[in-house]
Amino acid sequence: KLPEDFSARLVAWQRSHGRHALPWQNTREPYRVWLSEIMLQQTQVSTVLGYYQRFTERFPTVQHLAEAQLDEVLAQWQGLGYYSRARNLHRCAQAVVAQHGGQFPSSAEALVALPGIGRSTAAAIASFCFEQRVAILDGNVKRVLSRLLAFEGDLASSTAEKQLWAHAQALLPEASADMPAYTQGLMDLGASLCAARSPQCLLCPVSDLCRARAQGEPTRFPIKTRK
Ligand code: ADE
Repeated sequence: KLPEDFSARLVAWQRSHGRHALPWQNTREPYRVWLSEIMLQQTQVSTVLGYYQRFTERFPTVQHLAEAQLDEVLAQWQGLGYYSRARNLHRCAQAVVAQHGGQFPSSAEALVALPGIGRSTAAAIASFCFEQRVAILDGNVKRVLSRLLAFEGDLASSTAEKQLWAHAQALLPEASADMPAYTQGLMDLGASLCAARSPQCLLCPVSDLCRARAQGEPTRFPIKTRK
Protein backbone atom coordinates (compact mmCIF):
# COMPACT_ATOMS: atom_id res chain seq x y z
CA LYS A 1 0.00 0.00 0.00
CA LEU A 2 2.76 2.47 0.85
CA PRO A 3 4.63 2.31 -2.46
CA GLU A 4 1.52 2.55 -4.66
CA ASP A 5 -0.24 5.25 -2.64
CA PHE A 6 2.95 7.25 -2.16
CA SER A 7 3.99 7.30 -5.79
CA ALA A 8 0.48 7.92 -7.15
CA ARG A 9 -0.13 10.81 -4.77
CA LEU A 10 3.28 12.34 -5.30
CA VAL A 11 2.79 12.21 -9.08
CA ALA A 12 -0.66 13.83 -8.83
CA TRP A 13 0.68 16.52 -6.49
CA GLN A 14 3.63 17.25 -8.77
CA ARG A 15 1.29 17.68 -11.73
CA SER A 16 -0.98 20.13 -9.88
CA HIS A 17 1.36 21.86 -7.39
CA GLY A 18 4.92 21.16 -8.52
CA ARG A 19 7.31 23.26 -10.60
CA HIS A 20 6.77 23.14 -14.36
CA ALA A 21 8.21 26.35 -15.75
CA LEU A 22 11.92 25.86 -15.15
CA PRO A 23 13.78 26.05 -18.48
CA TRP A 24 15.27 22.54 -18.19
CA GLN A 25 11.78 21.09 -17.64
CA ASN A 26 10.52 22.12 -21.07
CA THR A 27 12.84 19.62 -22.72
CA ARG A 28 13.76 15.98 -22.61
CA GLU A 29 17.10 16.65 -24.27
CA PRO A 30 19.63 14.84 -22.10
CA TYR A 31 22.26 17.51 -22.80
CA ARG A 32 20.09 20.21 -21.22
CA VAL A 33 18.87 18.06 -18.35
CA TRP A 34 22.42 16.92 -17.59
CA LEU A 35 23.73 20.51 -17.65
CA SER A 36 20.97 21.70 -15.31
CA GLU A 37 21.52 18.83 -12.87
CA ILE A 38 25.27 19.53 -12.66
CA MET A 39 24.67 23.26 -12.13
CA LEU A 40 21.97 22.58 -9.50
CA GLN A 41 24.16 20.24 -7.44
CA GLN A 42 25.73 23.00 -5.38
CA THR A 43 23.91 26.11 -6.59
CA GLN A 44 20.39 27.38 -6.00
CA VAL A 45 17.79 27.56 -8.75
CA SER A 46 17.64 31.38 -8.88
CA THR A 47 21.39 31.59 -9.54
CA VAL A 48 21.43 28.72 -12.03
CA LEU A 49 18.75 30.29 -14.28
CA GLY A 50 21.03 32.96 -15.78
CA TYR A 51 24.06 30.66 -16.09
CA TYR A 52 21.96 27.96 -17.76
CA GLN A 53 20.57 30.47 -20.26
CA ARG A 54 24.01 31.86 -21.22
CA PHE A 55 25.65 28.44 -21.23
CA THR A 56 23.11 26.89 -23.59
CA GLU A 57 23.36 29.90 -25.92
CA ARG A 58 27.15 29.68 -26.02
CA PHE A 59 27.19 25.83 -26.20
CA PRO A 60 23.88 24.76 -27.80
CA THR A 61 24.78 21.07 -28.11
CA VAL A 62 27.10 18.57 -26.49
CA GLN A 63 29.24 18.72 -29.65
CA HIS A 64 29.74 22.47 -29.23
CA LEU A 65 30.77 21.95 -25.61
CA ALA A 66 33.12 19.07 -26.48
CA GLU A 67 34.89 21.17 -29.14
CA ALA A 68 35.24 24.28 -26.95
CA GLN A 69 38.45 25.22 -25.19
CA LEU A 70 38.45 24.43 -21.47
CA ASP A 71 39.28 28.09 -20.76
CA GLU A 72 36.08 29.16 -22.50
CA VAL A 73 34.02 26.65 -20.48
CA LEU A 74 35.62 27.87 -17.25
CA ALA A 75 34.92 31.49 -18.27
CA GLN A 76 31.23 30.68 -18.73
CA TRP A 77 31.25 28.91 -15.34
CA GLN A 78 32.90 31.92 -13.60
CA GLY A 79 30.96 32.68 -10.40
CA LEU A 80 29.24 29.29 -10.04
CA GLY A 81 32.09 27.87 -7.95
CA TYR A 82 33.20 24.24 -7.52
CA TYR A 83 35.21 24.46 -10.74
CA SER A 84 35.85 20.70 -10.83
CA ARG A 85 32.23 20.56 -12.03
CA ALA A 86 33.16 22.60 -15.10
CA ARG A 87 36.25 20.50 -15.84
CA ASN A 88 34.21 17.30 -15.56
CA LEU A 89 31.47 18.86 -17.67
CA HIS A 90 33.95 19.41 -20.49
CA ARG A 91 35.43 15.90 -20.10
CA CYS A 92 31.96 14.39 -20.03
CA ALA A 93 30.94 16.17 -23.23
CA GLN A 94 34.07 14.83 -24.92
CA ALA A 95 33.32 11.30 -23.67
CA VAL A 96 29.73 11.47 -24.97
CA VAL A 97 31.05 12.44 -28.39
CA ALA A 98 33.96 9.96 -28.41
CA GLN A 99 32.22 6.96 -26.80
CA HIS A 100 28.54 7.46 -27.64
CA GLY A 101 28.53 9.24 -31.00
CA GLY A 102 27.29 12.48 -29.46
CA GLN A 103 24.13 10.93 -27.95
CA PHE A 104 23.84 10.57 -24.18
CA PRO A 105 23.19 6.93 -23.24
CA SER A 106 19.73 6.17 -21.83
CA SER A 107 20.61 3.82 -18.97
CA ALA A 108 21.65 5.01 -15.52
CA GLU A 109 24.49 2.44 -15.56
CA ALA A 110 26.03 3.91 -18.71
CA LEU A 111 25.45 7.48 -17.51
CA VAL A 112 27.15 6.90 -14.16
CA ALA A 113 30.28 5.73 -16.00
CA LEU A 114 30.72 9.22 -17.47
CA PRO A 115 32.93 11.89 -15.81
CA GLY A 116 31.21 13.91 -13.07
CA ILE A 117 27.92 11.98 -13.14
CA GLY A 118 27.11 10.35 -9.79
CA ARG A 119 24.44 7.79 -9.07
CA SER A 120 21.64 10.25 -8.29
CA THR A 121 22.44 12.54 -11.24
CA ALA A 122 22.52 9.52 -13.58
CA ALA A 123 19.11 8.46 -12.30
CA ALA A 124 17.69 11.98 -12.66
CA ILE A 125 18.75 12.11 -16.33
CA ALA A 126 17.54 8.56 -17.04
CA SER A 127 14.16 9.16 -15.40
CA PHE A 128 13.51 12.65 -16.82
CA CYS A 129 14.70 11.98 -20.38
CA PHE A 130 14.14 8.25 -20.87
CA GLU A 131 11.43 7.39 -18.31
CA GLN A 132 13.72 4.81 -16.74
CA ARG A 133 12.57 3.32 -13.41
CA VAL A 134 15.61 4.32 -11.37
CA ALA A 135 15.72 6.05 -8.00
CA ILE A 136 17.32 9.39 -7.19
CA LEU A 137 18.64 10.13 -3.71
CA ASP A 138 20.09 13.61 -3.22
CA GLY A 139 20.15 15.52 0.05
CA ASN A 140 16.56 16.74 -0.17
CA VAL A 141 15.23 13.32 -1.17
CA LYS A 142 17.09 11.66 1.70
CA ARG A 143 15.14 13.95 4.02
CA VAL A 144 11.77 13.24 2.37
CA LEU A 145 12.21 9.45 2.34
CA SER A 146 13.80 9.11 5.77
CA ARG A 147 10.79 10.99 7.20
CA LEU A 148 8.23 9.00 5.20
CA LEU A 149 9.72 5.75 6.52
CA ALA A 150 10.90 7.03 9.93
CA PHE A 151 14.21 5.58 8.81
CA GLU A 152 16.37 5.07 11.90
CA GLY A 153 19.62 4.35 10.06
CA ASP A 154 22.48 6.81 10.48
CA LEU A 155 23.08 8.36 7.05
CA ALA A 156 26.71 8.95 7.96
CA SER A 157 27.09 5.17 7.53
CA SER A 158 27.34 3.67 4.06
CA THR A 159 25.28 0.65 5.16
CA ALA A 160 22.35 2.86 6.13
CA GLU A 161 22.74 4.85 2.92
CA LYS A 162 22.57 1.62 0.90
CA GLN A 163 19.40 0.64 2.75
CA LEU A 164 17.80 3.98 1.93
CA TRP A 165 18.72 3.55 -1.75
CA ALA A 166 16.91 0.18 -1.68
CA HIS A 167 13.84 1.83 -0.13
CA ALA A 168 13.98 4.57 -2.77
CA GLN A 169 13.98 1.94 -5.51
CA ALA A 170 11.05 0.05 -3.91
CA LEU A 171 8.93 3.23 -3.76
CA LEU A 172 9.07 3.95 -7.52
CA PRO A 173 5.82 4.03 -9.51
CA GLU A 174 4.96 0.93 -11.54
CA ALA A 175 4.43 2.92 -14.74
CA SER A 176 7.54 4.23 -16.46
CA ALA A 177 5.49 7.09 -17.93
CA ASP A 178 5.08 8.47 -14.40
CA MET A 179 8.83 8.63 -13.75
CA PRO A 180 9.49 12.24 -14.82
CA ALA A 181 6.70 13.63 -12.61
CA TYR A 182 7.64 11.30 -9.76
CA THR A 183 11.31 12.30 -9.78
CA GLN A 184 10.43 15.98 -10.05
CA GLY A 185 7.83 15.53 -7.30
CA LEU A 186 10.45 14.20 -4.88
CA MET A 187 12.68 17.17 -5.67
CA ASP A 188 9.81 19.65 -5.37
CA LEU A 189 8.51 18.23 -2.09
CA GLY A 190 12.03 18.31 -0.63
CA ALA A 191 12.55 21.88 -1.83
CA SER A 192 9.22 23.16 -0.52
CA LEU A 193 6.92 21.50 2.03
CA CYS A 194 9.33 18.94 3.47
CA ALA A 195 11.79 21.62 4.56
CA ALA A 196 14.64 20.78 6.92
CA ARG A 197 13.60 23.07 9.81
CA SER A 198 9.82 23.61 9.65
CA PRO A 199 8.02 21.18 7.37
CA GLN A 200 4.51 22.18 6.30
CA CYS A 201 2.88 18.81 6.93
CA LEU A 202 -0.65 20.27 6.74
CA LEU A 203 -0.14 20.90 3.01
CA CYS A 204 1.73 17.67 2.27
CA PRO A 205 0.02 15.21 -0.10
CA VAL A 206 1.48 12.21 1.73
CA SER A 207 1.36 13.36 5.35
CA ASP A 208 -1.03 10.55 6.31
CA LEU A 209 1.53 8.01 5.02
CA CYS A 210 4.44 9.69 6.79
CA ARG A 211 5.75 7.64 9.70
CA ALA A 212 7.82 10.50 11.09
CA ARG A 213 4.71 12.70 11.23
CA ALA A 214 2.78 9.87 12.92
CA GLN A 215 5.51 9.81 15.57
CA GLY A 216 4.97 13.54 16.06
CA GLU A 217 8.53 14.63 15.35
CA PRO A 218 9.25 14.83 11.62
CA THR A 219 12.41 16.92 12.10
CA ARG A 220 14.10 14.06 14.01
CA PHE A 221 14.79 12.66 10.53
CA PRO A 222 17.10 12.26 8.70
CA ILE A 223 19.42 10.91 11.36
CA LYS A 224 23.01 11.81 10.62
CA THR A 225 25.86 11.81 13.16
CA ARG A 226 29.19 13.43 12.35
CA LYS A 227 31.48 11.07 10.44
N1 ADE B 1 17.54 20.49 -8.30
C1 ADE B 1 18.08 19.43 -8.90
N2 ADE B 1 17.36 19.06 -9.97
C2 ADE B 1 16.33 19.92 -10.07
C3 ADE B 1 15.25 20.07 -10.95
N3 ADE B 1 15.09 19.23 -11.97
N4 ADE B 1 14.38 21.06 -10.73
C4 ADE B 1 14.56 21.88 -9.68
N5 ADE B 1 15.54 21.80 -8.82
C5 ADE B 1 16.44 20.83 -9.00
